This record gives sequence, C-alpha cells and structure tokens, in this order.
Amino acid sequence: MKILVTGGAGYIGSHTVVSLLENGYEAVVADNLVNSSVKSIERVEKITGRKVKFYKADTLDREAMKHILDTENVDACIHFAGLKAVGESVQKPWEYYENNIQGTLILVDELRKHNVKNFIFSSSATVYGDPEFIPITEQCPKKACTNPYGWTKSMLEQILTDIQKADPEWNVILLRYFNPIGAHKSGLIGEDPNGIPNNLMPYITQVAVGKLKELGVFGNDYDTVDGTGVRDYIHVVDLADGHVKALDKIKEKCGLKIYNLGTGNGVSVLQLVKAFEGSTGQKVPYSIKPRRAGDIATCYASADLAEKELGWKAKYGIKEMCEDSWRWQSMNPNGYED
Ligand code: NAD
Ligand code: UD1
Repeated sequence: MKILVTGGAGYIGSHTVVSLLENGYEAVVADNLVNSSVKSIERVEKITGRKVKFYKADTLDREAMKHILDTENVDACIHFAGLKAVGESVQKPWEYYENNIQGTLILVDELRKHNVKNFIFSSSATVYGDPEFIPITEQCPKKACTNPYGWTKSMLEQILTDIQKADPEWNVILLRYFNPIGAHKSGLIGEDPNGIPNNLMPYITQVAVGKLKELGVFGNDYDTVDGTGVRDYIHVVDLADGHVKALDKIKEKCGLKIYNLGTGNGVSVLQLVKAFEGSTGQKVPYSIKPRRAGDIATCYASADLAEKELGWKAKYGIKEMCEDSWRWQSMNPNGYED
C-alpha cells in the first residue's frame, strides 16, 4: 500500500514514515516545510535504507494536491500537516483557521475526486478541554477549547465526521494524541522547535544542552501529586506505530473511529524533570513560575480502546522517552540546522 503523508517532514510525521517503511508500506510525503526541514526525510532514508518520494507542497495549493494524487496511486492519507503553536494561534487565528481547516478541506476534496477515501487525522487531547473525568476515555465529552489551534482540531473532527456520515465509503480515524516526546533510537530524527520551545520536553533538553539557563515550572499549586501539572507523555515511536495499527483498522473498512493515543500514565512536571536527570545524568535547574494561562491540572488517557480495537499499546516508559529525547538533542544541538 502507498500512503500519502502530509506533514511527513515534521516531528511525528517523520517517525511515522519510518514505521510505515519498516512495516512494508510505501510513503509519499507532502510538506511545505514551514515548520520542518527536508533533512528529516534524508535521515528517514538513512535509518530505513528506503527511498521516500518527497513533494514540497502546501495543502492549500489545490493544483499541487491534484498533481500528487494524479501522479501517485495512493491508497490512504495520514494527515499531519498543520500549524500547532498554541500561543501563536491566539495571535494569528485567521492564519491557523485557514491553514489547518482550509488546507484539510482542499486535501479531502482532492482525495475524494481521486477516490481515495481512507483518512487518518492527527487530533489532540486538547479537544477534551478541562476534562470531565480522568482517565479520559473517548466517551469523555468534548469541551470548549482555550485557543484557536485547539478549535481547528475540534472543528476538523466534526467536519470529517460529517463527511464520513454523508458518504460511508469513507474510512476516517481520528487519533487524539496525548503528549508526544522522545525520538528515534538512532538520534537522527527528533523534535526541532523554532525558537524558544513552548513544550516541556524540548525546553528541558535545551536547558540540559546549555542553550537555555533554567526551566520555568508553570505553577506548583495544582491539585496534583506535587502541585505541578500532570500529563500523559508518550514516546513518539509508540505514537508512530499507532498509525500503522490504524491503517490495519482502515483495511477492515471501519467507517468512523476515534482513538486516544496515550499511555494511561500521568506524570508531573517535577517527576519528568527527576526522571530526565536520573536517566541522562544531566542537571536541569528550574524555578517555580506562575501558572500558564489555559493550562489544566491533569490530563491523561485511558488507552484501553486502542488496545482492544487496534491491538496497540505503548511499549516505552518515561526512562526511554528521556534517554531518546536527550540522544537526539545532544547529537543535534541545533536540530536540523548545520
Ligand atoms: P510539526 O510542526 O513538526 O509537523 C507538522 C508538519 O506540517 C511540518 O513539517 C510543517 O512544515 C507541515 N505543514 C504545516 N502546514 C502545512 C501546509 N499547509 N501544507 C503542507 N505542510 C504543512 O508538528 P508535529 O508535532 O509533528 O505534529 C503533527 C500533527 O500532529 C499536527 O497536525 C499537530 O497539530 C498534531 N498534534 C501534535 C501534538 C504534539 O504535541 N506534537 C499533539 C497533538 C496533535
Ligand atoms: C500543549 C498545548 C496543547 C497541545 C500540546 C501538544 C498549551 C496550553 N497546550 O499541551 O494544546 O495539544 O501542547 O503537545 O500550550 N510546562 C512547564 N514549563 C514549560 C513548559 C511546560 O512547567 O516551560 C508544564 C505545563 O504547565 C504542563 C506541562 O509542562 O503542565 C506540559 O506542557 P506542554 O508540553 O506545553 O504540553 P500541554 O500543556 O499538555
């Protein structure tokens, strides 16, 4: 099977391309490189010893999407392409709605015109807002999002659900990711954020490598084990493998399905810092800062449905996540830049 992977040069996309190739799929990547480097594709080829067909293309560019689908005989699409910076989305809502929603509408329209109706979408635990209950099952109601980025995910879930309902030939899987961290064991691909990282693990690794002075811990007065925020960190390679399992489900002509991809374990900010120090031997100085607007206390998944229906379960623990994040950061202090 040949899979179109939009956003395949990015963090989760590049790891997923590795998993696809290792599982006998062919991958065609379409990425406009707005938040990534083509070097990630070269590294994927080095890891796997396989070729990846790469198109520098924007999902907003209908002609480009049409050209790719005319040229490549793809069977399914895994759609990662999107903008994902929460803070930036508050400043630039129009750009986020256009890129993420319009980009997806054009892609889906060209896919259906080419009779490719198998689609896996990168959604997020952010659609649960401040969750009604913990651990979060797929039955947990969706809530108001706190930023335009989150709304694009929530709205696209609805749009894709309606499209599948109107045309049951579509098989659509919405994957709600929890917090991906870690990197491929080789240290050749990983997360390469632009500028100062917003997310916790890249901030920790950049402190450890000496690029940033100290970590600010956003609040220690939450109702959690040690007062700091609790999240469900998941190894990006496990997350990538979840997409391969989702493709198996698509082959069963599954219609619409929704799965959480998380580990089911909650880990606090300070627990993650301690685990990182313990598994890498690197010190991570930190100080307590005020809470970050829009943050919630606790967010972790029930991963039971994915295990039951996809036969997928996260294999890696926090130790490996820390070791692998650190290997990537220390081997590539400036990410994909020379
Ligand atoms: P990323 O920024 O590394 O990857 C996204 C890729 O999409 C980038 O390579 C970027 O260049 C590309 N892109 C953006 N807009 C495009 C467009 N219009 N046309 C073509 N390419 C475009 O981010 P990631 O962490 O790998 O995330 C992948 C997907 O998963 C995103 O949709 C993101 O919202 C979603 N997601 C990520 C997380 C996370 O914590 N990383 C959590 C939940 C959901
Ligand atoms: C954030 C986004 C969420 C997105 C997810 C992708 C916000 C409000 N939410 O989630 O929409 O889907 O990333 O992974 O941005 N922390 C610190 N110091 C830091 C950075 C983070 O203490 O420098 C804390 C946070 O308060 C939180 C935890 O670390 O408790 C994880 O933060 P982060 O990595 O940004 O992820 P989320 O907030 O879960």
